[in-house]
Amino acid sequence: MHSFKNPLIIALDFDNINEALNLAEKIRPYAGGFKVGMQLYYSAGQEVLHQLRAKNLPVFVDLKLHDIPNTVAGATRALTRQGASILNVHAAGGKTMMRSAAEAARDEADKSGSVRPLVVAVTVLTSIDQIVFWQEMGHSGAIQDRVVAWALMAQEAGLDGVVASPLEIAAIRDACGPDFVIITPGIRPAGTAINDQKRTLTPGEALKQGATYLVVGRPVTASHAPLEAIKAIVNEIS
Ligand code: C5P
Repeated sequence: MHSFKNPLIIALDFDNINEALNLAEKIRPYAGGFKVGMQLYYSAGQEVLHQLRAKNLPVFVDLKLHDIPNTVAGATRALTRQGASILNVHAAGGKTMMRSAAEAARDEADKSGSVRPLVVAVTVLTSIDQIVFWQEMGHSGAIQDRVVAWALMAQEAGLDGVVASPLEIAAIRDACGPDFVIITPGIRPAGTAINDQKRTLTPGEALKQGATYLVVGRPVTASHAPLEAIKAIVNEIS
């Protein structure tokens, strides 16, 4: 198991690898781990994972894989070899796709002698609200019901957990039990900008609800004083 020293995962959403690594170095005493998403991975490639791993920093590789099972399995194998501590796939890709990812991570970690990454499913993005969910995405019913249904499906497929809004934590915990990993973006310390997120909670409230890991981006990375910003969050949650 990769170890995160606290539940706080900082999203390094930058184009530039040096900017990302400099910030990571500066705030590492307070961060549990770092998240490399599409913006940084597509700009800097696997070098960024290599550099973060060389510093012994656990990395959540947030590429939200969503394709046919064989392709997702191949991508999962590649990210396992590259040292991902956590990686994710879209629950909307279906149970077979999720199971392929879980099996590929297990098998590739055994073959390459690397540590198996946690594989989690993205449920409904935290930027989606109930109206968009109905009118643009064609779903009916409440977002929370869809999230819980996908979380159960992910668990049946052998995944370790889900990415969901902090508003759904309690319902997922009830349905999936105490060991299921729940990662929540949409975290906003009191008084900070919401940006494009819709379903948010403060770090302390999200942990109280039962989140395993919190993903925080702009409240730290876009702050004029990132070190102070992360210290304030660590104070709030400890
Ligand atoms: O800057 P902010 O704190 O909103 O960043 C949230 C991070 O979490 C972003 O990197 C975004 O890609 C990611 N994320 C999300 N919602 C999800 C999954 C991931 O906001 N459902």
